[in-house]
Amino acid sequence: MGIYNDQFVPRLVNLVCGAKMNNPQRERACAGLHGRVMEIGFGSGLNIPFYPAAVESISAVEPADLGWRLADKRLARATVPIERAGLDGQSLPFADNSFDSALSTWTMCTIPDIAAALAEVRRVLVPGGTLHFVEHGLAPDPGVQAWQHRLNPIEKAIAGGCNLDRDIRGTVESAGFEIHELDEFYADGPKFLAALSLGVAVSP
Ligand SMILES: C[S@@+](CC[C@H](N)C(=O)[O-])C[C@H]1O[C@@H](n2cnc3c(N)ncnc32)[C@H](O)[C@@H]1O
Repeated sequence: MGIYNDQFVPRLVNLVCGAKMNNPQRERACAGLHGRVMEIGFGSGLNIPFYPAAVESISAVEPADLGWRLADKRLARATVPIERAGLDGQSLPFADNSFDSALSTWTMCTIPDIAAALAEVRRVLVPGGTLHFVEHGLAPDPGVQAWQHRLNPIEKAIAGGCNLDRDIRGTVESAGFEIHELDEFYADGPKFLAALSLGVAVSP
């Protein structure tokens, strides 16, 4: 990955994604998670305080060693068992139908082959299992979209492969999920980064 991506990007993600203004979105995305949960792009464990009591265990999938180390203190305070069980969402080391729910927060922007990753998430969820997500992506306004397309190469280079202009709803639906809840809105901050999709999709 290189020193920049290994040593700097996980710290940047911990700082930027750890901003307090993201907490209400994390809380909303985690609501309703239950049973055995797989979290894809676990990062530095910023969702740990928001897992509901109905969660029995978390299998974290995270390629960045430093991200996992930065989760140390949150892991120590966690009230559910959490293990780093995988390194790449595009190829999950779990049997079919292993999880009741899955969680993805600000991660669909970054995984290189997001279609492959969501196919994997579907495979490992039980039928009727839920994917909870909050993601930034393609804005509804053409003017903002134009800036997202323009800035995308810079964002990818400086933010560990993050894309500004992915169509989150389309990507989730193309993977065969049925979207049951979806809120698309601008959070605080620059619109090219703040167009959020927050919802729950079901694996049929
Ligand atoms: C912007 S960060 C979000 C981290 C965390 N989900 C959060 O909400 O703070 C994107 C995360 O996706 C992870 N990631 C990148 N490629 C991945 C892959 N192929 N499989 C799983 N996670 C990946 C990154 O290491 C990073 O932790």
